[in-house]
Amino acid sequence: MLLTIGGMMAGTAVVNAQAIKVPDEINALLAKNTCLACHKPDVKLIGPAYIEVAKRNYTPERIVELIYKPNPANWPGYIPMAALPNVPQDEALKIGKWIASLNKTKPKPKKK
Ligand code: HEC
Repeated sequence: MLLTIGGMMAGTAVVNAQAIKVPDEINALLAKNTCLACHKPDVKLIGPAYIEVAKRNYTPERIVELIYKPNPANWPGYIPMAALPNVPQDEALKIGKWIASLNKTKPKPKKK
């Protein structure tokens, strides 16, 4: 009986899809590259929330392109994002992979 309750409680932590836990490494990259000034993981700020970006089903590589060369037409109602060509490629790719991984609508078989 006690074991059953414990199992249920452990299960609830996983269900809350809105609570985004940003890995430390990613958070550091977002902070260093000033992304956090305009983007929050789950809340609209100057730019769209990353969970909203994730719903567009971009590949990580496409997200890298969009960091270097944003396409404001994708987000009517927002101010255009400034291109950020100074973000190192490997860092942009890590960020891109993370944003793509936030898309919960499409199950990713090869997650991690
Ligand atoms: C000065 C504010 C600002 C900064 C800094 C900023 N963004 Fe943005 N971002 C925006 C806005 C506004 C949009 C929506 C309009 C657009 O795409 O131009 C956006 C859109 C995006 C999109 C969606 C692109 C698309 O076409 O769907 C991604 C991905 C993104 N940002 C990632 C990043 C990352 C990663 C960083 C840091 C390296 C970053 N942004 C820094 C404001 C910003």
